[in-house]
Amino acid sequence: MLKIQENTNSYIETFHKVIEESNKRNTKHLILLVDDEPDNLALLRRTLRSKYEVITATNGKEALEIVKQRGKEISLIISDQKMPIMQGTEFFANVAEMYPDIVKMLLTGHSDIDILVDSINKCNLFQYIFKPFEPEELMLIVQNGIEVFELAQSKKRMLKDLKELFYTTIKSIASALDAKDTYTHGHSLRVTLYSLILAKHMNGINEKFMEELETAGLLHDIGKIGISEGILCKPGKLSDEEYEIIKSHPEKGKKLLTSIKKLNCVSEWLNSHHERWDGTGYPNHLKGEEIPISARIIAIADTYDAMTSSRSYRKALPHEVARDEILRCKGTQFDPQLVDIFEKAEKEFAIAHDDPEKYYKENSILRQYIAQDEGQLSKVVY
Ligand SMILES: [Fe+2]
Repeated sequence: MLKIQENTNSYIETFHKVIEESNKRNTKHLILLVDDEPDNLALLRRTLRSKYEVITATNGKEALEIVKQRGKEISLIISDQKMPIMQGTEFFANVAEMYPDIVKMLLTGHSDIDILVDSINKCNLFQYIFKPFEPEELMLIVQNGIEVFELAQSKKRMLKDLKELFYTTIKSIASALDAKDTYTHGHSLRVTLYSLILAKHMNGINEKFMEELETAGLLHDIGKIGISEGILCKPGKLSDEEYEIIKSHPEKGKKLLTSIKKLNCVSEWLNSHHERWDGTGYPNHLKGEEIPISARIIAIADTYDAMTSSRSYRKALPHEVARDEILRCKGTQFDPQLVDIFEKAEKEFAIAHDDPEKYYKENSILRQYIAQDEGQLSKVVY
């Protein structure tokens, strides 16, 4: 119960964070102006300083140093093209590598344009401004650039918030599920860990697969949500009827997730996590490679956790006993190649078993998305 409360709180916290972020609307945008001609630089500064925070540099090298130090704060840069030491396009090409989101505007003469087309494309320029320019016209162009910057930042923030919300939701569902049965507390998390360990040791696995596998691991028993605790936690032997109800959970899980587009393939994997390599599993008696690889991975992880955790009818078995059982079922219950991988990775299983929370923090793909460097997202300006 405590775990559900904790997760509900973290869910609410996420919502509050999103609202808080969107309320920070008072910071002025920072614009960097780069020009070697003092009169031009002064005109640019005079035009823009009433509405924006403005910093200046008199050549590309100096400007690059400023970008290195304050790039996360800068929204837009206006640079002259013809400058000593470093040309405007070269400077912008460097900026584009470090901070692709900064809006870049190049000051140039009409006659330079043809020669510059290539370099302009390379530095992902937003717009060029012909010299001489009218201050009012410049202000409008800059406003336009700032709007584009804000739009890109909002989109990034929204995507990040969605991922965070998605992760929190999945974790909350998994915890709610684990809380239904005190004996299987933490089961979904540990199955996820063991699945990630196996996948990590396989060839040709990409990050997208790892992300989906993690989601599938956390949700693999979601179909049990509709099954009563009386049956799930029954200490004695299940009746045939009760066993059939338990066996319906993969299909129930699939039905629950099918309507969620992002979880379509995951729902198929859940449906197959009790299939067996020799075709004697359920619900569809799939055989060998007919069973999705992720479901074959989860099957080993699930069995290892079932054996190494205490149940209402027996105490947790030692790692060695679980290992021997998995090796014994190679080619009957489990994919033989995956059992070979398990054998190589078994020490990691034991480590994850001893401290699952720590292991999850260090190896989760979904958590990495949230903890990633937010770059310019750290600055919320409107
Ligand atoms: Fe299951």
